[in-house]
Parts: sequence; C-alpha cells; structure tokens
Amino acid sequence: MEERIISSHMAMEDEVVEFSLRPRFLREYIGQSRVKENLEVYIEAAKQRNETLDHVLLYGPPGLGKTTLSHIIANEMGVQVRTTSGPAIERPGDLAAILTNLQAGDLLFIDEIHRLNRSVEEVLYPAMEDFALDIVIGKGPSARSVRLDLAPFTLVGATTRAGSLSSPLRDRFGVVSRLEYYTVEELALIVSRSADLLGVRIHEDGAEEIACRARGTPRVANRLLKRVRDFVEVQGDGIITADSARGALGRIQVDRLGLDEVDHKLLRSIMEMFRGGPVGLETIAATIGEESHTVEDVYEPYLMQIGFLQRTPRGRVVTPRCYQHFGVEMPDS
Ligand code: ADE
Repeated sequence: MEERIISSHMAMEDEVVEFSLRPRFLREYIGQSRVKENLEVYIEAAKQRNETLDHVLLYGPPGLGKTTLSHIIANEMGVQVRTTSGPAIERPGDLAAILTNLQAGDLLFIDEIHRLNRSVEEVLYPAMEDFALDIVIGKGPSARSVRLDLAPFTLVGATTRAGSLSSPLRDRFGVVSRLEYYTVEELALIVSRSADLLGVRIHEDGAEEIACRARGTPRVANRLLKRVRDFVEVQGDGIITADSARGALGRIQVDRLGLDEVDHKLLRSIMEMFRGGPVGLETIAATIGEESHTVEDVYEPYLMQIGFLQRTPRGRVVTPRCYQHFGVEMPDS
C-alpha cells in the first residue's frame, strides 16, 4: 500500500530531466530571496540545536519550486524525504502507515495538502504537535484511545491555495512561506544554469527571450528551454540565440508574453463570446473544455499577474490591456 501512496520522483522521463535541473542546495537556488534567506536561518538554528526543523508550509502558484524547496530543505538538514500528496491519502490509516514508517528526523512532504480530507487531517494534528498518533481501540462505551509515539519529523506541506487550508492545520505550521513569481532576470539565470547542465550553448539574449515567455515560472522556463534546444539542434546550429529562440517559440505557439493556446482560448472566449465579461468561472471552464480548478489554479493567476484578467464578485473580466495585446477592439460600454 505504501508504494501507492508514497511516490519517488522517477516516474516520467521529463520528470527525471526536470529533477536533474533542480537545484539541490540553497546556494544553487535562484530567486525567492526572502524565503531562501529565512529558511537558511531556520535550518542553521535547528541544526545548531540538534532539533528537527519546525513544520513548513509553502504556498503559491504551481511550478514555483515548492517540491524543489522541500528536497533542498532535506538535503540541507541531511535527512531523507518521503513524498506523498493530499489526494493520495484517502483514509486515516493510510496516513498512520506513513507516519509510523518515518525515521527520526525524516522530512515528510505532502503536496496539495489542501486536498486532505478532514478525517485524515485530524490524524495530522497530534502528529505535528506532539509527534504522536492517537488510535481508538474498540467501539462504543468500551472504546479507548491509545497514544503511540512517533519519531520526530518535519512536515513540509505545499499548496496552491493557503486559503483553502483549515485554520487548525494552518496554525500548526511554524514556518509559512509564500512563493512569488520569478522576475525575468531570475528566470534568465535559471535558463542559463539549466542550459549548462543540459550541455547546450546559449547566449544571454537567448536566455532572456525564453525567460520573458516563461510566465514567471521556472518549470515553464525549463520546458521551453528543452523545446528550443530540440529546434536549434535539429534545424539550427545548436546555439540558442535571441533569434533562434524566437523562431522556436513561435513554432510551439508561445507568444511573447508566454501565453499559450489555452490562455488564448480563455481570453478570446471572454472577449468574443461574453463581451469582455463579467462571466462565471464555471462558464469559462465549460467553454474552453478545462476543469474549473485548473483554470483557477493554473491559468488565471498569471493572467491576473500581468493585468489581463480580474476576478470580480460578478465574475471574470478582461482588461483593456488584454484587448490591446490581441488587437481586438473593445465593445462600447
Ligand atoms: N531550476 C528550477 N528552479 C530553479 C531555481 N529556483 N534555481 C535554480 N535552478 C532552478
């Protein structure tokens, strides 16, 4: 059962490459400077006191490095990571099995922690607070509760929505860090670093061209880099320049702000079918054939960040800037 719930990170080829591009220590990690500097202090303090690091909650849009940071924390602390996710833990017993298998100091990473169900969450409270597991034996009036000690561990939870975490759970994290979108300069450094690791030659302006279109997200930057590399190796001279990057990115239909086909469909449908909005999330999702939580968690945050989309109480609205980008005339009133 454990195998089903706890995964290693070697499932797909892309994932393996991605993993090797990921920094392993804080000193290699680019961006998120405030989060990084604070973590450095907490890690050093815990090590000096010979204690486990307090539980850490990482939140922010997908692809900003929550999983990477959890592995870095483990490497810096010199401990093992066990990885699982909210939806994978269906029953309290699943979590109990994971917790009782932890060794002293281990780091337990729970991705999408906001998707844990309530009964599972309740197992987590005494585990986080007292490193204990409360087990109920028997039923009815003769039922009694037995407390099992767990090895001390650090829980790192990751979520795209800190707001959907129950407050008893949120309150049990000693460190709560919000990850922000990366700047173009930071992404260009990440792209150059990844190109070095992949052994592909890249000019500074080539890295910038990719960085501009990476939606503030290292995962996107690395994916674009790999696709651009394919084009320059097969159809070019193998060197990524601003020109060759622009050509390749045009071929994979990523525009100069990094918007892809789905973003285009989403924004165009609001402009063309709903006169710019307001229009409800469910309606948009159904129109473009995506799930509403994908639209909400994956697509919208970046579109709001670049000022193309607003969430209002009456629904989603696109902005004049969005009309300009697409060269579409705004409707009157
Ligand atoms: N690769 C992916 N994310 C990274 C980061 N934040 N720093 C360096 N390399 C990365």
